[in-house]
Amino acid sequence: MTKAVQFNHEFMQEANRLKRLPPYLFAVIDQLIKQEKAAGKDVIDLSMGSPDLPPPPNVVQALADGVKRADTHGYSRYDGEIERNLRKAIADWYHRKFAVELDPNTEVLPLIGSKEGLAHLSLGFLNNDDIALVPSPTYPIHFNGVIMSGGILYQLPLLAENNFLPQVNKLDPHVVRQSKLMILSYPHNPTAATCDIGFMQEMVDWCRRHHIILAHDFAYSDFVFDGHKAPSVFNAKGAKDVAIEFHSFSKSYSMAGWRLAFAVGNASILKTLGKTKSYIDFGIFRAVQYAGIEALNGPQEHVKLAADTYHRRMKLFVEGLNAHGWQTPMPKATFYIWAHLPLKYSALTSMEFAQFLIEETGVACAPGTGFGEYGEGYVRFAMVQNEDRLKQAVERIGKVLAAD
Ligand SMILES: Cc1ncc(COP(=O)(O)O)c(C=O)c1O
Repeated sequence: MTKAVQFNHEFMQEANRLKRLPPYLFAVIDQLIKQEKAAGKDVIDLSMGSPDLPPPPNVVQALADGVKRADTHGYSRYDGEIERNLRKAIADWYHRKFAVELDPNTEVLPLIGSKEGLAHLSLGFLNNDDIALVPSPTYPIHFNGVIMSGGILYQLPLLAENNFLPQVNKLDPHVVRQSKLMILSYPHNPTAATCDIGFMQEMVDWCRRHHIILAHDFAYSDFVFDGHKAPSVFNAKGAKDVAIEFHSFSKSYSMAGWRLAFAVGNASILKTLGKTKSYIDFGIFRAVQYAGIEALNGPQEHVKLAADTYHRRMKLFVEGLNAHGWQTPMPKATFYIWAHLPLKYSALTSMEFAQFLIEETGVACAPGTGFGEYGEGYVRFAMVQNEDRLKQAVERIGKVLAAD
């Protein structure tokens, strides 16, 4: 018998830019979920922020109609009819919602998800001596995009004692001088923190003063409660000189898998982002764009219904945790609960605690360090299961907390 010759795969080593990325903790949690399920455990998965609600029926219908059209199957073109209509729908929606005027041709850029747009923003702007100021904790693409683009990542710690707002005035002037981009996102994933227009104005003024691009990720603009209104960056004066803002259909319209989002604002920043994308992608499937127009122009009940649903779930979950002695504040926005580890588990890392929780209760959450080092000491629960499942989750957690 001939002996199989071992093939040497060393030449397939991934690039250094991938090696520099932090471990993807969600993959570890996913693996744990699989293991627990394989062992027959009933897992309640609150780890990922993927909405469980169905998209609005009129939007689903528009997608079906869009697929049947003859003009939706080719490559998307910037000056196509559906593309122009989508940009106009975005500008109109923006005006209705935030009273901000946008030129649909130069100040609106549709995206294949805001994750895509955020990654390409770093790629399009950062040289290897440019600093990007990125909060920690934060949605991972904010820092992973910087690392992959080869720019310099500088963390802005978001601490509970500062209401999870960054302290830019304390930054070293050398760092500020070398900074080209700052990313902010309120309502905030994972901490669920919000900001007011005063803070937004301060950030815009600061970025204008220091010539720093401000990218505001506004994915949770619609999930705000108890009368709180989340400001758009463009509600701050002078924002269009330095800022762009990212919006997503994933959360507001429960269309996470459709991959549709947009960035709006400063025409020059968007031009560079569009240029970067034009070398890489061919735009969004036109049937999806067609459905996106319906989402923005059609009835908006779904958005309110989704926000109310998440709000009810959050109340149920937070009240449940508090009743079991896990003191956790009720957030004003998003669909996340950002919970400090219970005192008796404070010797564990957030990853160890997340692992402990899934093994002991079958409840999967996201470890705080998945969002950056300043997420240590916390876990995040996403309210993406129905109320019965959330009640079960809280009961199981309560039992573990009570046991000793
Ligand atoms: C803050 C934030 N930005 C962006 C995204 C991704 O949005 P999209 O589906 O548009 O890529 C998420 C998803 O969880 C998010 O939490």
